[in-house]
Amino acid sequence: MYKYHIVTYGCQMNVHESEKIAGMLVELGYHAVSSPEEADLIVFNTCCIRDTAEKRAYGNIGALKPLKKKNPDLMIAVVGCMTQQKNASNALLSKFPFVDIVLGTNSLDQLPILLQEKRQKGSLIRVNEDPTVDPSLELPIYRTSGTNAWVNIMYGCNNFCTYCIVPYVRGRERSRSLEEVVADVKQLIMEGYKEITLLGQNVDSYGHDLSDGSDFATLLQRIDALPGKYRVRFMTSHPKDFDRRTVDVIASSSHICHNIHLPVQAGSNDVLKRMNRKYTVEQYLEIVDYIKSKMPDVGITSDIMIGFPGESEADFESTCDLVKKVRYSNAFTFVYSPRKGTPAATMEQISAAVKKSRITRLVQLQNDITKELSEGYIGGTYEVLIEDVNPKYPGTVCGRTDSGRLVTLTGSPDLIGSFLMVKITKARSAALFGEMIKE
Ligand code: 5AD
Ligand code: SF4
Repeated sequence: MYKYHIVTYGCQMNVHESEKIAGMLVELGYHAVSSPEEADLIVFNTCCIRDTAEKRAYGNIGALKPLKKKNPDLMIAVVGCMTQQKNASNALLSKFPFVDIVLGTNSLDQLPILLQEKRQKGSLIRVNEDPTVDPSLELPIYRTSGTNAWVNIMYGCNNFCTYCIVPYVRGRERSRSLEEVVADVKQLIMEGYKEITLLGQNVDSYGHDLSDGSDFATLLQRIDALPGKYRVRFMTSHPKDFDRRTVDVIASSSHICHNIHLPVQAGSNDVLKRMNRKYTVEQYLEIVDYIKSKMPDVGITSDIMIGFPGESEADFESTCDLVKKVRYSNAFTFVYSPRKGTPAATMEQISAAVKKSRITRLVQLQNDITKELSEGYIGGTYEVLIEDVNPKYPGTVCGRTDSGRLVTLTGSPDLIGSFLMVKITKARSAALFGEMIKE
């Protein structure tokens, strides 16, 4: 029996795509192994959104050369959105001629055929440049995320933020039908998944391309009406489309978590404009205030980027001011990196030293806020869905509050998948620690 090993880079969307790759391989009779050395097939599921993810993938693929030399039967496949960039697949093969298969995101379903063909021929490339093809919709899924199941509700993005490569490699927005998504979620709840995460590049514009009036708020309402004990999360939201109606639906729902990922990117109107984000700081703060007024227990998280071309010290200070006002429970902080083919790549760039100093200051600021918010949890009791053991502390398990905070408590693995009431006793930076309340 063949053995496979998948290496995944990038976001949850990619993690879920790896589940689809695994689904195909399991159907072919392959089984998963945890190290590249044991594998007959290594799949790199790449991401090109930032320079760091791309560099890491290049480094790891290059590092396989000796293994391939030792074991010429080893198959190496590179898939995902890095290969979908213009001319990227040929460039990849000329740099790493030992790679056997290069597959674009829109051609994922070709993997089984290519694996077979490859046994007879040289390296193979299959990248469909038509971004409206979604073969992955039909693929079997080998779910690997325990209590949580991912569900794509839409693909692609229409927004063309000037720094971002996604619309070029993932194509325009295509929503799945509301009935199809609801049926998937219903099935997953019946199978015992306790948490469903809805995925899309911009979930708030869900349904805009369908002609039946479906929208994100209606989708959430329909999912919330399904019976059972489960949670629903979703990502990613775009502040320009995240409306009050969606907030109202979440606030009055029984299953949708009070945890909203609302990437702001920058806190300066000038920078937001050049990023083509289509909202102002004032509009962003207004929706945040509305969310907080309807859900005082909400956890709001964000993506924040520093070093966008032309970002002045005053622009950066404005971003820090916004972070202080919103008080995110957590934020993913990024250093801008130019992506070939995007408008911002041709703008005048900021020096690496300035970027370094700004990211350090921003991370420190957000860490301080996260720590303060963590301390506010101490003494409170929260419902936690136990997701896993915490390998850092033997004899413990961990899970999340409805607001998305990670809590560790003493307990055995058989608690995984249960909802427990947990009293928070200690906080350390972003991490919370607690004890189970006996019923
Ligand atoms: N450089 C740095 N960060 C980027 N992101 C997207 N494009 C870039 C880029 N060129 C960040 C944004 C986005 C997150 C997924 O990645 O913050 O929300
Ligand atoms: Fe990229 Fe902007 Fe689309 Fe998000 S909304 S995927 S940042 S273009």
